[in-house]
Amino acid sequence: MDNFINVQVKKSEKNFTISIYDDLISNPGKYMNIYSPGKTMIIVTPSVYFHYRKFIDELSNCFVSSILEVICIKEHNKDLFAVSYICNLANNLGFGKNDIFISVCGGCCQDVVTTAAALYKRGIRVIRIPTTLIGAVDAGIGIKSSLNIGAQKSTVGTFYHPYSVLIDLNFLHTLPSEYMICGLAEIIKIGIILDADLFNLIENNLEKLLQCKYYTQPSSRIFEVIYRAINGMVSQLEINFYEDISFERLMDFGHTFSNVLESDSLWTIPHGFAVSIDIALSLYLSYRFNLLSYKDLERSLSILINIGLPIFSKYLTQDSCLRALKKAILHRGGEINLVIPTAIGKGTFIKKIDDNLLNYINDGLKYLSDKPQKLLTNITKVG
Ligand SMILES: NC(=O)c1ccc[n+]([C@@H]2O[C@H](COP(=O)([O-])OP(=O)(O)OC[C@H]3O[C@@H](n4cnc5c(N)ncnc54)[C@H](O)[C@@H]3O)[C@@H](O)[C@H]2O)c1
Repeated sequence: MDNFINVQVKKSEKNFTISIYDDLISNPGKYMNIYSPGKTMIIVTPSVYFHYRKFIDELSNCFVSSILEVICIKEHNKDLFAVSYICNLANNLGFGKNDIFISVCGGCCQDVVTTAAALYKRGIRVIRIPTTLIGAVDAGIGIKSSLNIGAQKSTVGTFYHPYSVLIDLNFLHTLPSEYMICGLAEIIKIGIILDADLFNLIENNLEKLLQCKYYTQPSSRIFEVIYRAINGMVSQLEINFYEDISFERLMDFGHTFSNVLESDSLWTIPHGFAVSIDIALSLYLSYRFNLLSYKDLERSLSILINIGLPIFSKYLTQDSCLRALKKAILHRGGEINLVIPTAIGKGTFIKKIDDNLLNYINDGLKYLSDKPQKLLTNITKVG
């Protein structure tokens, strides 16, 4: 395989390319000479700047005029104040329509930068360089941004496409293991709900998926996992670009109960863990509705458990699940559109809240809490 791959997101004038390179960090100049904007603002988080200072400096040197902004954005401050801060900075520095933002960060900072780029002068170009696994397979490659209001997760956001996305999986070498497995939750999501071949690849390569050295070997099966995950995301993006074609979105799998879970835990449960817990409950519900076999339920739960992801949290109760379902109704056109798998690689939607659903949720929480979990010892964040 080549040392790079391209995935084209095709949507008339909103086309953009997602490229994976193995030498972006070591040689940014090779890729930046195609962009010749006036001013550039490079936005990075402190840990990324700490680990990749040389790369950031070289990236800055690729442009005639570049400003570096190191900003700490985590879940608790992924909000409109952070967006306002970036926009204010751009305004003070005289940024105009032809100028450009470059984000070099994980999903939290990414959401802020995308929103700022969408709003500043009603839209300026943004190049994304995701540095986490969630960024590479999800947050960095779509067109959505999501911000929190107080402790309310993903309450506001925009649809705004990047100018381009440049991925170098070498960034994963310094990513803490808990964020690595958070990213695996989003990949497992795609395998279970959309792509049985991806699921099989994951199932057969669990050990390797936890070791970032395999992510940077283009001939490895792990590289194929990333490629399939990105293609799965892009295929769903292209058929419902602005989410106005249908409220039935397979990519919402694992994203119904997780929002409330993250909020209720006051952000002590990271996004990928919350998604994993949501996936586990959704799998169980499908089994109880006789839509998923026991074998596929257990196969899927085993992958989550063996990767070291949680499948249960004390913050998830029948009450919090009901709140989550009511929130989903507001977001998904008047129905809950709860995504559940019907087999590996296939899914359907539950539309309404009824007594059966609530009873099965109760049973599911008990079933999952009784199962032994294999959490990594350095994971302290699951309540
Ligand atoms: N908009 C979307 O479509 C979308 C999709 C999925 C997830 N998200 C959002 O993404 C967020 C989660 O993203 P995340 O998992 O990237 O977490 P994150 O952005 O919080 O990053 C995790 C931590 O790792 C640090 N970090 C980042 N890259 C690093 C690297 N290479 N080496 C060392 N440290 C590094 C960060 O500074 C941060 O402290 C959530 O808020 C979620 O809602 C958004």
